[in-house]
Formats: sequence, structure tokens, C-alpha cells
Amino acid sequence: MSIFAPFFEDKSIEDIYTMLEKIKQILEEVQSLTASTPEEAEALRIKYLSKKGEISALMDEFRTVPAEMKKEFGMRINELKNLATERINELKAAAAAQETVADDIDLTRTPYPIPLGTRHPLTIVKNEIVDIFSRLGFTLAEGPEVEDDWHVYSSMNFADDHPARDMQDTFFVEAHPDIILRSHTSSVQARVMEKQQPPIRVICPGRVYRNEAVSARAHCFFHQVEGLYIDKNVSFKDLKQVLLLFAQEMFGPDTQIRLRPSFFPFTEPSAEMDVSCTICGGKGCSMCKGSGWLEILGCGMVDPAVLEANGIDSSVYTGYAFGMGIERIANLKYQVKDLRMFSENDVRFLEEFTAAN
Ligand code: DAH
Repeated sequence: MSIFAPFFEDKSIEDIYTMLEKIKQILEEVQSLTASTPEEAEALRIKYLSKKGEISALMDEFRTVPAEMKKEFGMRINELKNLATERINELKAAAAAQETVADDIDLTRTPYPIPLGTRHPLTIVKNEIVDIFSRLGFTLAEGPEVEDDWHVYSSMNFADDHPARDMQDTFFVEAHPDIILRSHTSSVQARVMEKQQPPIRVICPGRVYRNEAVSARAHCFFHQVEGLYIDKNVSFKDLKQVLLLFAQEMFGPDTQIRLRPSFFPFTEPSAEMDVSCTICGGKGCSMCKGSGWLEILGCGMVDPAVLEANGIDSSVYTGYAFGMGIERIANLKYQVKDLRMFSENDVRFLEEFTAAN
């Protein structure tokens, strides 16, 4: 080896500047490195810090730096190496941590307690009514809420000038003066009779509409349950017995009923049924306004004109029918003072009710 060799191997001043530039550039790069997976971080380590990496290349070149500059250079390269090591280790740790978080997610776990809904009080009461009657042999029947005049009124023996047909009571579907929102579930009686010959024994729950101003005591929509039984030799006795059983199942075994004469176009004779007051048991209180009785439904023997209008021979068959408001029964059971509560969906109200199923 020549004695001049070290001199010739030393860097020229331009080379020194290039190296300094290179250190500065790598330093800037290192400061803005990112990695989203541990693999990406490892690739960075290889790029900068492995034996063939960019920083190692600088270290190799360091050997040829003139002696008087070695200290300064050494410091800079070391500084760069430390910073790069630290930065890449940080990136590695962060990416690994993120990966374990993703691995640890238990997709089957409830993230936080989810408040469970409850059945709507009207559904609870409707189910209870349907359940009682199904145990007495009634099957479920349903009909459309958007109906025609025939099923709601004409087939139910309403005279043409009956006030219930009036716009005051009935919602008309504008384009069709004949198409209306049903104002009672008695329309389902007609729907069943036109499809089926006796024996008929059905219970028909559903929503009905009336053109009423909404207040605590009236609403433009509410819910009813209709009952219909048609067979040979069905009498008023049968009606009374079934309604007594229903009342005692619904309000308790000591409940009494009374039937008062009334009028409905579709039944003859007709009656309204009261139950002994659910609060005072009949002694008289503010709930029953001192009378001891609460009205709960309308009923009667199906008018022969209704049977005939719906294709059933009234000389062979007789039947009874009844209809009740679900809100009314719910009010008696739960003392809900304002009808509007049932349709406002206030969770604080709805949470008060629980059903067995
Ligand atoms: N449809 C009557 C109403 O909406 C209720 C009713 C009364 C139904 C007597 C009946 C019945 O089946 O027999 O007020």
C-alpha cells in the first residue's frame, strides 16, 4: 500500500458536502416515516438500518472522511442512526399494538347494555283479549283498514242516511268517495261472512279511524276487537255466558257483568255491557263515578238483515256479535288518563309495561 494511499482515499471537499447533504436528507425522511403494519416498519428498518441499508452505507463512507472531520461526522451519523432506530422501533410498536387491538375485538360481545324494548300496552291487552277468546274456540280474522262503504256500512245494515256515514265521522280517501278508512272492525264480520259459511267463530282485532279532534279522551285512530259467532241455535244466553267468562278472565274471577238495552244497526236486540268497577269492586268510586259499573263493550244478536246481506240464510242460522275498544280496556287495567299517551311513543311511558310474552 502506498504511503500516500490514505491521502488519496480521503474525500474531496465536494464529497464531504454531498455526504452532509445525504445525512440531512435521510434525517428529514426518517422524521416523517409512517408504517401501518409491523411488516411495513420492518421494511423501513431494512431500507435504512440493515447492513446494506442507507445509513450503513454512510457508515462505510465514514471511513474515508479526513481525520480532522471524523469526530464531527461520527457524531452526525450516530445521531442519525439513533434517531432512525428510535423512530422505526416506535412505528413497529405502534403497528403491532394496533394489530393486537384488531385481533382482540370480540364480535360476539355486547358493546354496552342495549335497552330492550317492551311490548306496547295496546299489544299486551290485544294479545290478552285474543288469547282469552281463542281458548273459547274463536279463531283470528283480520281485514283491511282502507275499506269500502259496503263492508263498513251497507252490509252492516246502516241506513243510507245514518249519521256515522257523515264526513264528521268517516275519513274518505279523496279520489274515491266509496273508499274510506274503516270506522269500526265490524267490517271484518262482512269480510268473513262473504268467504265462509257457518259455523263461524272469529275474533278480529284491528285499528280503526274516526274524524275526531284529538284530545285526552278521543283520538282520530284507535283499536277495537270484534267478535262474531254464527251457527244453528245460537242464542243471547250464549252471548252472555261468553262475555261473563271473558270479563272474569280479563278483570278477575269476582267480576260481574250487566247488560243494558242499546241500539246498533247490525244487531237486534242490542246491548251495552258493563263490568263491576275494577277499582272499587262495585262500591262506587271516582273511576266509576259512584255507579259501581264501567261500560266496556257493545253486543247483540246479529240482525237477520246482516246475515242475508252477507249470503247467510237467516232462517237456518243465528249469531251474536260484540265489539270493544282496546284503549278502553287498557285504561281500565292500567288507569291511563290520557289517550294520546298510547301513540306518542314516550319511552318513559312505554317502559312501564311488561308482558309475559
Ligand atoms: N261497531 C261498534 C262500534 O264501533 C261496536 C260494536 C257494537 C260491535 C255491537 C258489535 C256489536 O259487533 O254487536 O261502536
